[in-house]
Amino acid sequence: MVTSGVGIDLVDLKRLGLVWQRWGSHFERRILTSEECRGRHRNTRAYLAFLGGRFAAKEAVFKALERRFAWRDIVIHSTSAGAPRVALRGSAETAARRAGITAILVSISHTRNHAVAQATALRDHDVSECSEFAT
Ligand SMILES: CC(C)(COP(=O)(O)OP(=O)(O)OC[C@H]1O[C@@H](n2cnc3c(N)ncnc32)[C@H](O)[C@@H]1OP(=O)(O)O)[C@@H](O)C(=O)NCCC(=O)NCCS
Repeated sequence: MVTSGVGIDLVDLKRLGLVWQRWGSHFERRILTSEECRGRHRNTRAYLAFLGGRFAAKEAVFKALERRFAWRDIVIHSTSAGAPRVALRGSAETAARRAGITAILVSISHTRNHAVAQATALRDHDVSECSEFAT
């Protein structure tokens, strides 16, 4: 396997909170799939850290793929141990498959004020010559 792309994103949770207050569930529905919306959070702060982590993870995946897709074409779910996993849908899934990308790894962390995520796209071998992501 070879690395096809990497991405990182940092979210200011205070700013995210202002956007969330203004747009509420409309904002969440744009960013998160219904399966990602499941789950309970201790309080608003914990929820914003979760939301910021998902937002950062999706931005990091866009960067690793070097293209933007619909937010909900990137799905971040959690294993039973809490580790984040990436699934692609729709045009993101099609484009990644055409580029030979077989897996995307992501890691998330948050503090009181920030959420950060890093993503790495992997492919089985170097197919950059025939990739639609090639320059
Ligand atoms: C996983 C762990 C390291 C998180 O550290 P933390 O300082 O409490 O929290 P951070 O803000 O840095 O990270 C939180 C994110 O870690 C990720 N995470 C949680 N469990 C994880 C795991 N087992 N493996 C990888 N990532 C994990 C999640 O994405 C989580 O954010 P989310 O709940 O919004 O999805 C901590 O809960 C832990 O030590 N768990 C037990 C040991 C373990 O499973 N370690 C695996 C990594 S070595």
